[in-house]
Amino acid sequence: MITLTINRRPVSVPQGTLLLKAVEEAGITLPSLCHHDALAPYGACRLCMVMITAPYRALVASCTYPVEEGLVVETDAPEAVQARRLALEFLMSRCPRSDVIRKMAEKEGVTASRFGMPSTEQTDELCVLCGLCVRVCRELIGAAAIGFTGRGSERRVGAPFDFQSDACIGCGACAEVCPTGAIQMEDRGNQRILRAWNTRITLSACPECGRFFTPEPTRFLKKMLPEIETYWEVCPDCRRQKTSRQWLNAQ
Ligand code: SF4
Ligand code: FES
Repeated sequence: MITLTINRRPVSVPQGTLLLKAVEEAGITLPSLCHHDALAPYGACRLCMVMITAPYRALVASCTYPVEEGLVVETDAPEAVQARRLALEFLMSRCPRSDVIRKMAEKEGVTASRFGMPSTEQTDELCVLCGLCVRVCRELIGAAAIGFTGRGSERRVGAPFDFQSDACIGCGACAEVCPTGAIQMEDRGNQRILRAWNTRITLSACPECGRFFTPEPTRFLKKMLPEIETYWEVCPDCRRQKTSRQWLNAQ
């Protein structure tokens, strides 16, 4: 275990813990948009900034900083509070309609941005460029179907050349992890639609109840877990019923 000081109180956490988690352990909630426990640290949104005062003095993104023995941290140092508020003002200016950002900003005492509003065609922007969708697709799913394009204010996420990517399996992990709801996924008939990526994926029907529910399970899940390949062919409801029937028969 590592013992550090957070806001003048000692906290012990396992070695390798990221500072953001240690701060949470101390009962303090920092704003954060780009961190996900299942993905590698990234440090894109700069919302989780804290001040380290020992062994040296520095403002750091707590989600990328592993704890160390004797570390002294102040989440309420004026510089840290100011850095978090500044990041929130930038995000409010980029995504003025985002409820997620507005609520985070309110908690940090920010109600308006000094940086103006985006042009009218961008006022519906919800993407904060946190990269979670790109990273989950590459790091966890292994598909790498989407990525960043453009530079500076033109930077955005999308499929290559804005065409449907052959690599997309329609798993919906990108929509699941997006912290601002910028990616909408809709299942309509036998189609899964991900408008953000100009993508339509054909869904397979459950052989038990006929409901369209999953994008080609044979191609992805069967490869991952071949020993239980038939398990994935039925929808979650039928799977549950099947499992309980098997369990009851075994009693
Ligand atoms: S679409 Fe969502 S997950 Fe992807 S970069 Fe934008 S905010 Fe992050
Ligand atoms: S949560 Fe730490 S930089 Fe985004």
